[in-house]
Amino acid sequence: MGRLSAMRMLVFGGTIFVSKAVAAEAVRRGHDVVCAARGTSGEVPDGATWLRIDREEPDALAGLAGERFDAVVDTSIMSHAWVADALAVLGATAGHWTFVSSISVYADEVTPGQRPGAPVVEPRAAHATLADRDADPGLYGAIKVASENAVRDALEGRAFIVRPGLITGPGDRSDRFGYWPARFTRGGRVVVPDVEQEIQYVDVRDLAEWIVTGAEQRLVGTFDAIGPRCGLRDLLAGIASGFDAELVPVLAGQLADAGVGPWMGPRTLPLWLPPESVGIAAHDPAHAREAGLRARPLDDAVAGALAHERALGLDRPRKAGLTPAEEAEVLGGVS
Ligand SMILES: NC(=O)c1ccc[n+]([C@@H]2O[C@H](COP(=O)([O-])OP(=O)(O)OC[C@H]3O[C@@H](n4cnc5c(N)ncnc54)[C@H](OP(=O)(O)O)[C@@H]3O)[C@@H](O)[C@H]2O)c1
Repeated sequence: MGRLSAMRMLVFGGTIFVSKAVAAEAVRRGHDVVCAARGTSGEVPDGATWLRIDREEPDALAGLAGERFDAVVDTSIMSHAWVADALAVLGATAGHWTFVSSISVYADEVTPGQRPGAPVVEPRAAHATLADRDADPGLYGAIKVASENAVRDALEGRAFIVRPGLITGPGDRSDRFGYWPARFTRGGRVVVPDVEQEIQYVDVRDLAEWIVTGAEQRLVGTFDAIGPRCGLRDLLAGIASGFDAELVPVLAGQLADAGVGPWMGPRTLPLWLPPESVGIAAHDPAHAREAGLRARPLDDAVAGALAHERALGLDRPRKAGLTPAEEAEVLGGVS
């Protein structure tokens, strides 16, 4: 196969996590990358050009009028207006458009084995903040559906919609996947949920590689961007295998009695899902895998997550997980 010619790529964001990983991967492959962001969250990767924009401002994209890009990547989290503005300015001429959506678009969060084509929630063309999302958890998925629809309508035949599940790895600010390797490095007795549940994740580096490849190959369609399905027990045992720690399984009822919740937030066990959401981590990964999404080996994913954890500080206050005192309290109740 001949060498692909360099693309001119616009990445909205590019200063943190997913969009930064995409920009870095595109630069690494020799593409000409412009990152459009405020610069508040961090710096754009070396080799990318930073265009300072604030998408909250009127005429935020005026500086992009008349520009043409071979590929655009938009990760707008909760703003249909941001998506619509970008499409209005760049949609007519862009060669290819990636929109990073979410597994949260699906209406049914219980049934395993779903894939694109399964029903999604009603779209809401809204503009929301994190506080709005806390007050109305359904808003996030609804705005993603409206955003996806806008991209598909404007970019017929050029739209690549990726719906990630849990994203892990360097730059993750959610403190979820990283809790486990960070906890196992401390060793000793570790509380783990004793549940029959599946889990899925996608490493941000694998996701970024696939998004850049998708742009290079003009991949179109809608995909769940997730890795293989596996049991939560097996995943935690796999992560723990590189460390000197003893897993102490605790039943869901006992965890609830001890005030420990699932998934995210303070006093939780991350990756453990509430029963009403177990389907979100059990989607069919075949569609994306066949379209080129690779899943790096677990030890590589763990090493990336742990390096990021160490950079943040293993003893920092966390957004998800148990503190040592909370864990000791739970262990005291079960032993
Ligand atoms: N994290 C997960 O597990 C997960 C799961 C499923 C789906 N997703 C989706 O994955 C995508 C990536 O999420 P992420 O957390 O990595 O965020 P990201 O999209 O990579 O980062 C947000 C970017 O938006 C920029 N930004 C924020 N406010 C801005 C403004 N007013 N004007 C211009 N730029 C602005 C930030 O740059 P500045 O602050 O520097 O301006 C930053 O570079 C999102 O679409 C999310 O919904 C995430």
